[in-house]
Amino acid sequence: HTAVVRIRPDRVTAPVSRRVFGTFVEHMGRSVYTGIHEPGHPTADAAGFRQDVAELVRELGATCVRYPGGNFVSGYRWEDGVGPRDERPVRLDAAWRSLETNAVGLHEFAAWASEVGLELMMAVNLGTRGAAEAAELLEYANVDAPTARAQQRRDNGADEPFGITTWCLGNEMDGDWQIGHKTADEYGRLAAETARLMRFVDPSVELVLAGSSSAEMPTFGEWERTVLRHVGDLADHISLHAYYEEVDDVSDFLASSARLDRFIGDVATIVAEVEREQGLTKHIGISVDEWNVWRTTQFNQVDKEPLLTGPWRFHPRIIEDEYTATDAVVVGSLVNALLRHADRVKIANQAQLVNVIAPIRSEEGGPAWKQSIFHPFAIAAAHAHGDVIALDVDAPVLATRSHGEVPSLDAAATRTDDGVELFLANLQAEHDVDVTLDVDGYVAFAATTVGVPDGGDRLTTNTEASQPVQPRALAIVEGASSITLPALSWNHVRLR
Ligand code: AHR
Repeated sequence: HTAVVRIRPDRVTAPVSRRVFGTFVEHMGRSVYTGIHEPGHPTADAAGFRQDVAELVRELGATCVRYPGGNFVSGYRWEDGVGPRDERPVRLDAAWRSLETNAVGLHEFAAWASEVGLELMMAVNLGTRGAAEAAELLEYANVDAPTARAQQRRDNGADEPFGITTWCLGNEMDGDWQIGHKTADEYGRLAAETARLMRFVDPSVELVLAGSSSAEMPTFGEWERTVLRHVGDLADHISLHAYYEEVDDVSDFLASSARLDRFIGDVATIVAEVEREQGLTKHIGISVDEWNVWRTTQFNQVDKEPLLTGPWRFHPRIIEDEYTATDAVVVGSLVNALLRHADRVKIANQAQLVNVIAPIRSEEGGPAWKQSIFHPFAIAAAHAHGDVIALDVDAPVLATRSHGEVPSLDAAATRTDDGVELFLANLQAEHDVDVTLDVDGYVAFAATTVGVPDGGDRLTTNTEASQPVQPRALAIVEGASSITLPALSWNHVRLR
């Protein structure tokens, strides 16, 4: 069980887009309420935001945050979340059969995001609403002119505009679960009208089109082509959403990164075709603005029905997946895939941040802690700077049941003047791998591994009571040109 990684620092794919380390906060379940916001919690600040959670968010090191949904945004009235708190209405959130108090809205969230160092990336409702409401929100948020909308923002406490650059035009409009689900033509037209008006209001915005909700959507491909023909000239990015889970075959699950590679590659091919066909001179980026491990089969088969028919509740407990050591390795390999596509993938948001399929968990009145998947994200976010460089990898293949053979060593690398950062996932569940690092002039000087903890197994999870899945230093021989990676591990190797 040996592998060779050839590193040629001049083989630059593209600069690292720091926005690929984005995250996502939706008004859903306990993400906002009792997640980031819980007045009365012992650590809450004057605005009601939990400082124990805020501290973990800072440590995660994400760069931007998509908000406020997700499926939620497709029925959301942003006006409900601004103005005096005691006058805000309680609304039904039909997407998640929940009650929304609107205690947190644009002003509170923007203040929190800035305190934890996240750039705000806003989604507009193209489910029940249209171009006018999106442009009104944009005017409220970004315009510094003597208009009634801008004055409303000032009256609500924000003299300065929020200056939000990145805007998502709706969410998963291809899915029949979406409020206001549309055909590609219907969405393409609406997105074009909305984009045009938003650009008139604020020409500096970056606009993200809603692409396919998964590679398995029956409309995947045709959706992208149709939408891009309507609005490609007015948009900067098109999204894709990708969730992976272990159903009944671990090797299929371990192929998630190869599957994401293919999905991104297929979208990139379509984007390039439409760019040529339409004579577009700019390049449209890909925004992987929801990705993660999520046990959707369990949610759809067991949890969804009671959720959709049960009583209306405030911040119900929904999809609080508990992540295993295996999930951490897969999440690390998915980050690798995002980096490998740095030439097209300019934005990515792990979905989500707290409690709802999240790296951070919290309990009401109780503690907050890091799930296993926190670690690869945080390590990569801290170290991936400069340029992404392409690697040649010779490694044994992993035979999977449904996805053919995939490389058992999943690799990505970045380079700055200080050195090379290698991110390597050993996807072999049973075998360590001895990796020879073929590099001119560089030597390994530090390495960290995330995977199966001592005394645990691949299904070990971090819980409120204990968090055994932690990064640990990996022994390397000083000046080494080879390293042994444990079975089922994601690793960060530093070279200089
Ligand atoms: O992240 C959870 C949900 O997954 C989002 O609301 C939706 O966009 C996607 O289907």
